[in-house]
Amino acid sequence: MTRVFKSCLEWMEFRKSLTGSSLGFVPTMGALHDGHASLIRRSAAENDKTLLSIFVNPAQFDDPKDLEQYPRTLEEDRRKAAQAGADFLLLPEASEIYSDKYRYQVAEKTFSKLLCGKNRPGHFEGVLTVVMKLLNIAAADRAYFGEKDYQQFVLVRDMAKAFFMNTEIIGLPTVRESDGLAMSSRNARLSKEERATAPGFYKILKTAAREEEAFSALNHAGFECEYVIDLDDRRFAAVRLGAVRLIDNVQR
Ligand code: PAF
Repeated sequence: MTRVFKSCLEWMEFRKSLTGSSLGFVPTMGALHDGHASLIRRSAAENDKTLLSIFVNPAQFDDPKDLEQYPRTLEEDRRKAAQAGADFLLLPEASEIYSDKYRYQVAEKTFSKLLCGKNRPGHFEGVLTVVMKLLNIAAADRAYFGEKDYQQFVLVRDMAKAFFMNTEIIGLPTVRESDGLAMSSRNARLSKEERATAPGFYKILKTAAREEEAFSALNHAGFECEYVIDLDDRRFAAVRLGAVRLIDNVQR
């Protein structure tokens, strides 16, 4: 049974009783899939207790339509969370998370301006601000993030280091469907035809020799390519398929 907390203060009070037990934390926006389940399972294996949070964070959506259409599947999420081994579920309200009316924000000045940050103004400020709050609320020993959002993972890991935070940030490999498509809550919004096209995203990223080649192959295959960028040992990309924005990254 997963115990549910609807208030951060209630959780923080309860957290005090967990002294002597290690705590793992998996922050999510819900619409849980096997990628989230792998984070919960890893946390459950490495810690005495695991806290999962579900909070669709308005501050990280640059497009109000995207926020409105973000899938919300709470009952199913509760079942999956329990099955994967979450002990506690935090479901905070925006009014509690942003009681400061978003007056205080965390900003990063270089890496957050590249890749997804270039076309999504305010996105990473929204992510880093809510993750800072959630990490402080959770007070976990370890927190788990999927490497599908590799830029997010790096920014969070470096933020935790820069601010001397007490939580170890752990990134876990992207979980993929059998056809290669990276699992994402947004996949649920793809039409049947778009879902059939979607695996081409990963295939092209893996096989194209150069960025420009990948960019034009993606456009040819029916995607609207936002960027393909090779950085260090990784290739990063974002595309649109109909109304749905997908991101992925592969090791080179
Ligand atoms: O990756 C996500 O689901 C979100 O960006 C996160 C880390 C839960 C912050 O809202």
